[in-house]
Amino acid sequence: MSQTQSEYTVSQHSLDRDCTTLSRHVLEQLNSFGPEAQDLSAIMNRIALAGKLISRRLSRAGLMAGVLGFTGEENIQGESVKKMDIYANDVFISVFKQSGLVCRLASEEMEKPYYIPENCPIGRYTLLYDPIDGSSNVDINLNVGSIFSIRQQQGEDLDGEAKDLFQDGHQQLAAGYILYGPSTLLVYSLGNGVHSFILDPSLGEFILAEENIKVPVHGPVYSVNEGNFWQWDNGIRDYIRYMHRHEGYTARYSGALVGDFHRILMQGGVFLYPGTVKKPEGKLRLLYESAPLAFLIEQAGGKASTGKENLLDVIPDKLHARTPLIIGSLEDVKLVESFIEDSYKQK
Ligand code: AHG
Ligand code: MN
Ligand code: MN
Repeated sequence: MSQTQSEYTVSQHSLDRDCTTLSRHVLEQLNSFGPEAQDLSAIMNRIALAGKLISRRLSRAGLMAGVLGFTGEENIQGESVKKMDIYANDVFISVFKQSGLVCRLASEEMEKPYYIPENCPIGRYTLLYDPIDGSSNVDINLNVGSIFSIRQQQGEDLDGEAKDLFQDGHQQLAAGYILYGPSTLLVYSLGNGVHSFILDPSLGEFILAEENIKVPVHGPVYSVNEGNFWQWDNGIRDYIRYMHRHEGYTARYSGALVGDFHRILMQGGVFLYPGTVKKPEGKLRLLYESAPLAFLIEQAGGKASTGKENLLDVIPDKLHARTPLIIGSLEDVKLVESFIEDSYKQK
């Protein structure tokens, strides 16, 4: 049976789409086969492998022994550690061990960076990551994520303190996240737009879903844990009161930053984790939670702020430093900032 031109065009189009795998896309993005492009492409492939391994384990979590629940330990943040946090943390280490690419990995679950000495003479990159973001969702089968950021090692790290990582977020070479939801999604940027990929389990490949994602300049969603209202500054309280009193806004909060952020990236709005009385810097960690997402939102045409300054300008004073985070559509982030500014004027 002969194919009409339009049938051919349609099937060719979906075939092209199926063939746009993450690795091909990374190389096209870098527009080079030079050593740095090869390295970044290999690093992204390893991150994708980590995502596939974590996704596989999460999808069977309720069926296997020893996957759900707490380990009984606390991490450096003083938070109870889940078995999945440790599994996912170790997955990232394992996939990078023999890579020759990454000398150090720094994660939420480790007080100090993890060094892979055999890679260090040549591996000039550092991976910063949150292995499982939103881990309170793991045991109830709701969405969780992983966040990653790639930085070039700057100078020697002789004392093992990784102080060269205490730099602003503009220094990131790449950033992204993996969202483990009904499907597994990988979103990344190499500083040239934001692109999303869906894991096709039958192929074991991340396939291009959307290129050059742009966040709407305004959206209806505000995403914040309102249970903290009593401990916020007046600026944030005034902003939330404004949301309550005006038509056109709706609240969404899942308890997993990656999921809440992804909704906002795709549909617009704002996510906030402001400082509180107990935690003036908020809860979210700069180097492997807020800064990577700020890198993505700027690439998508949005904005990320601490309320006082551009989030990508913040220089951490320690590996696990925290910052308040206000992130999303340009207009919505500016509106929150205007309430914060007004409250300072009134002081
Ligand atoms: P993590 O699971 O990596 O510790 O991160 C949890 C974070 C983030 O995902 C989420 O937005 C926030 O904590 C939720 O905190 P609250 O329960 O305080 O709202
Ligand atoms: Mn997290
Ligand atoms: Mn985490």
